[in-house]
Amino acid sequence: IPVRVFESDVVASIAVAEQMASVIKEKQSQNKMAVLGLATGSSPIKVYRELVRMHQEDGLSFANVVSFNLDEYYPMRKTSDQSYYYFMHQHLFDHVDIKSENINIPDGELTIDAIDHYCRTYEQKIDELGGIDLQLLGIGRTGHIGFNEPGSYFESKTRLVKLDPLTIQDAASDFGREELVPTRAITMGIQSIFKAKKVILMAWGEKKAPIIKRTVEGIISEAVPATFLQKHLDVEVVVDENASLQLA
Ligand code: F6R
Repeated sequence: IPVRVFESDVVASIAVAEQMASVIKEKQSQNKMAVLGLATGSSPIKVYRELVRMHQEDGLSFANVVSFNLDEYYPMRKTSDQSYYYFMHQHLFDHVDIKSENINIPDGELTIDAIDHYCRTYEQKIDELGGIDLQLLGIGRTGHIGFNEPGSYFESKTRLVKLDPLTIQDAASDFGREELVPTRAITMGIQSIFKAKKVILMAWGEKKAPIIKRTVEGIISEAVPATFLQKHLDVEVVVDENASLQLA
């Protein structure tokens, strides 16, 4: 996997935002929708900040953007400030001109028996738009992308999953304590992510250095779902110096 190392997450995030903006503009010039796959968590925050700046200062429009978020906790109320729905509106959607009907985020409010059908529809919607043009990813210390935890199949699609104990531990600070973190989530699958035309995986800081090494240099295995990206034809890993420290 090609790796781009930047001196800081700020510089790296600006570079990623520029790549997203150029997909949006290219599609705009063709009168087409740009289909973006989006992530939450700490990693993309500065990318979204830069996109908002580009919208406010450089006139970048999101009128031709359709977005699909990777995941949402389950169960989770949209109005809860830990929801990914809330996160995306707070960091991006409330500040740009994306049409609300073009925003897709897995619904954490569904009843359990509605989930299967919902997930199939989510997947179908992506396919009908011709697939995701650019997929942004963060990575968990378990090697998850989206919430595809260790053990996730290469063929997996959008579905309800159980979170890994390490992921729950890492989310504890957002929820106050570990017991308050939902144990499940709805996530796009490895296959759903893999179908994207281009994938950018971001990681910042020393805590991510071991998993970045395993993702880039390790053998491809369900034990580290992010290693499946080694098979993708247009993927790049964007890291700051600290996250690159263990690379050969
Ligand atoms: C979030 C997601 C997760 C995160 C990962 C890293 O939508 O899909 O895979 O990207 O847990 O989280 P941060 O960026 O907070 O370290």
